Amino acid sequence: MPDLENPFQETLLSRHRAEPCTVVIFGATGDLTNRKLIPAFYNIAACGDLPPQFKVVGFARREKTDEVFRTELEAGNRKNSRQGHNDELWASFSQCIHYHRSEFEDPAGYVNLKLQLDKFDQERGTPANRLFYLASAPEAFKPILEMLRATGLNEGVGGKWARVVCEKPFGKDLATARGLNSVVNATFKEEDTYRIDHYLGKETAQNIMVLRFANALFEPNWNSRYIDHIQITCAENLGMEGGRGGYYDTAGALRDMVQNHLFQLLSLVAMEPPTDLSADSVRDEKVKVIRALRPLIGPEAVGKNVIRAQYTAGSVDGVSRVGYRQEDRVNPESKTEAYVALRLFIDTWRWQGVPFYIRMGKQLPKKATEISIHFKKPPQVPFATKNLIKNSENTLVIRIQPDEGMAMRILCKQPGQAMNMQQVKMDFRYSSSFGKASPEAYERLLLDAMAGDATLFARRDEVENAWKFIDEIEHAWHQSDNPPPMCEYPAGSWGPKEADDLLGLDGHEWRLL
Ligand code: BG6
Repeated sequence: MPDLENPFQETLLSRHRAEPCTVVIFGATGDLTNRKLIPAFYNIAACGDLPPQFKVVGFARREKTDEVFRTELEAGNRKNSRQGHNDELWASFSQCIHYHRSEFEDPAGYVNLKLQLDKFDQERGTPANRLFYLASAPEAFKPILEMLRATGLNEGVGGKWARVVCEKPFGKDLATARGLNSVVNATFKEEDTYRIDHYLGKETAQNIMVLRFANALFEPNWNSRYIDHIQITCAENLGMEGGRGGYYDTAGALRDMVQNHLFQLLSLVAMEPPTDLSADSVRDEKVKVIRALRPLIGPEAVGKNVIRAQYTAGSVDGVSRVGYRQEDRVNPESKTEAYVALRLFIDTWRWQGVPFYIRMGKQLPKKATEISIHFKKPPQVPFATKNLIKNSENTLVIRIQPDEGMAMRILCKQPGQAMNMQQVKMDFRYSSSFGKASPEAYERLLLDAMAGDATLFARRDEVENAWKFIDEIEHAWHQSDNPPPMCEYPAGSWGPKEADDLLGLDGHEWRLL
């Protein structure tokens, strides 16, 4: 029975009532469709959650038949489907996949798309909702949106809705994000606009709110009185594989991961409790965190609080790797960072004086994303502490990926006559507690977009406020007279020495992953 007194529960229960829908993916011949989107729809189908009479239309420039498109996607699904690939299920699921060839700027392509969508509705005997997914190169977003508006495809038919999902990157600075937002909002209402950030769809990211607001144990301590500092690490053991160097070299770690994914994690960790779980209540609280970030303005403040670096040649997992500047499609004189570490402060009552250390890097020793909450030491410890290892404070570690779970480090007495202490770990692992794999982020997010729940999508003001903060750092790096240096680290190491010093100056160390 739903607990009507509890607004959190009501919203959770009503979340996944998805209605019949046609999804149009722009840029459907790209990697994202093959690797993430189609496997996500296939797995939604495998769980029995796909709306009835569902259709997905791939819209792209290359000439292709439905059959060829389906065969390419089948190969992708075999490799990438979370629950494996079942020939029988694929045979029926793939019948809902269609291909539509057109240039993104060609009005005729959209007129034909409209005819095709109307034809599907006639075959169904009822109009369907329409979800337009922008997975093309970002330059194409504007013409696509303008064409959708010109053909009236942005309006739902027969009382059904039309929504848009925008992939990242959402702009490359505040000005471009604002420009894009005006085109998006001239075409779709904000409530029909879903700016995707796949980190929000990760099971453990969603669990941060439950951990904080459903357990009486943590929230009373979740503030500057008890927390010494917080670290967020996103380590990757890959470089510029798959031709990514071209895009990455125009973006860099700060734009590619910090402005979006890491700021989203930061918001979830630092936000105030929302009054309910409606999309706007949650996003109202998240955006306040970004707005309260103490600005870093000018090369001095940026140099003191932000470390940028590129990897040099080295080896990861015993495999030798070239340096960043030698990567395919990267400018040999590139000034783009593949690693960034920041020391941030959130100027609110709750977080006054608590440093948040955030780092992201390519070609680090392993792939791991985690948040660690480092609690203060008790005011007085009546035991001998000389045998204690360093960093023995209570730490709560939230492992976002892989090996999703949480660990609490506490001090215990070692067995024996003496009163010696040792740090021990209480560990919760999703895999052992729940015994089944969590849905992929894209499964959750696609279902949410179809169900009309925008909680796990970025709102316009979140995106713009994040860019406003990031722009100052980019400005100090690329447009000031005395920009802070570009540091270096060998591929396969944990980043530049300067990033260790950033914490060292405050008497802290990065947690060993
Ligand atoms: C993407 C970035 O948004 O996220 C990539 O553009 C990054 O550079 C990727 O590798 C990481 O996602 P995940 O889910 O593998 O941690």
